[in-house]
Amino acid sequence: MQVPIQPAGQLRAELEPGYQSGFANEFATEALPGALPQGRNSPQRAAYGLYAEQLSGTAFTAPRADNRRSWLYRLRPAAVHQPFVRLAPHRLSRIVANFHDVPPTPPNPLRWDPLPLPAEPTDFIDGWSTMAGNGAAEAMSGCAIHCYVANRSMDGRFFYNADGELLIVPQEGRLQIATELGRLDVGPGEIAVIPRGVRFAVTLPDGVARGYLAENFGALLRLPDLGPIGSNGLAQPRDFLTPHAAYEDREGAFELVTKVNGVLWHAPLGHSPLDVVAWHGNYAPYKYDLRRFNTLGSISFDHPDPSIFLVLQAPSDTPGVDTLDFVIFPPRWLVAEDTFRPPWFHRNVASEFMGLVQGVYDAKAAGFVPGGASLHNCMVAHGPDAETFARASHSDTTTPHKVSDTLAFMFETRTLLKPTRFALEEAPLQADYFECWQGLTKHFTPEQR
Ligand SMILES: [Fe+2]
Repeated sequence: MQVPIQPAGQLRAELEPGYQSGFANEFATEALPGALPQGRNSPQRAAYGLYAEQLSGTAFTAPRADNRRSWLYRLRPAAVHQPFVRLAPHRLSRIVANFHDVPPTPPNPLRWDPLPLPAEPTDFIDGWSTMAGNGAAEAMSGCAIHCYVANRSMDGRFFYNADGELLIVPQEGRLQIATELGRLDVGPGEIAVIPRGVRFAVTLPDGVARGYLAENFGALLRLPDLGPIGSNGLAQPRDFLTPHAAYEDREGAFELVTKVNGVLWHAPLGHSPLDVVAWHGNYAPYKYDLRRFNTLGSISFDHPDPSIFLVLQAPSDTPGVDTLDFVIFPPRWLVAEDTFRPPWFHRNVASEFMGLVQGVYDAKAAGFVPGGASLHNCMVAHGPDAETFARASHSDTTTPHKVSDTLAFMFETRTLLKPTRFALEEAPLQADYFECWQGLTKHFTPEQR
């Protein structure tokens, strides 16, 4: 079932569980009055008989501006569970973390049709397929890119990822993400970020779900500096929403699943781990409505590099070079005069994995469909297809044109995005992708400018 993207506000009013506003703020929230200690983190006895527990997302000694941690006040410490044992892989689970052991990366442009929705019961964790990645979870460097499909809610099952934070881009179907720190409701057109280590369960209000995941092994995602843009523009900090504390006091035969260095483990536990009554700190899940992105571009001629569409970045040790960028191509006006308005032909040192949430991408007339994906690795030549080039080369550029039915995005990385064996051999790879450029014939006329 295709769930259309709703106008900003409508989705929120329908699902609004209540949020705190701001990016990486020092939040403070309690589901019971007085549950949060004042002026201290670890009193001798916490209110309501709660246990105090710290969850750190950066090294204790990370610089103050980068330091991220939260204090949780919960019914039981997170340590209360039985030992983990290896989890037998679900038939659809195709998780890869070791990118040294994947096939040689082809120097071809790659494009895939959407992964089919599952026929057998598959929850959000079962339905991951790793498409590409680089670095390693164990080295806390690089990223993995997955597609997910699901048709069943996580029932009595909880998950946390020890390998990195998760950037979730729903393409079809809403997700209700109940986390230790509160509930996020997201749908197509929005994103959610679940920090490394935070436990959660995903419910599917629409019965099915499909989308994309970027798993960031490295430095935490942050808002980019704006440079000469100034103090406003792109994604605004106040539009990032973090849930209020919400807890459940539920006992039963539950399962806690985790992923450590790409391997899934599970442990029995007799209670819901979503039992945090109050918390404070700046390490917490958040969501963002991509329709709030303040898209900037040229109002004269040419168009800027796509870094102007950067939503979030995971910086590397090299200034200005990120391990992972999340970039979107949302609805926007094209006004540049005497300009080839679609994205130009290019070869980049960076590697680009693209997905399409809705509509049509303005560099491709056909073939790149919602739920599909493309991968243009370092120095792989690509750009508009022949049909788009022909149209845009003769279109009227004296009047504005709005690209309205579109929402594409890109996960861009500094190092090669190595496609997995699944992506190259089992996923619906389009063998004829290269054909879209073969109609770009020579127009060179030395006798006529
Ligand atoms: Fe590109």
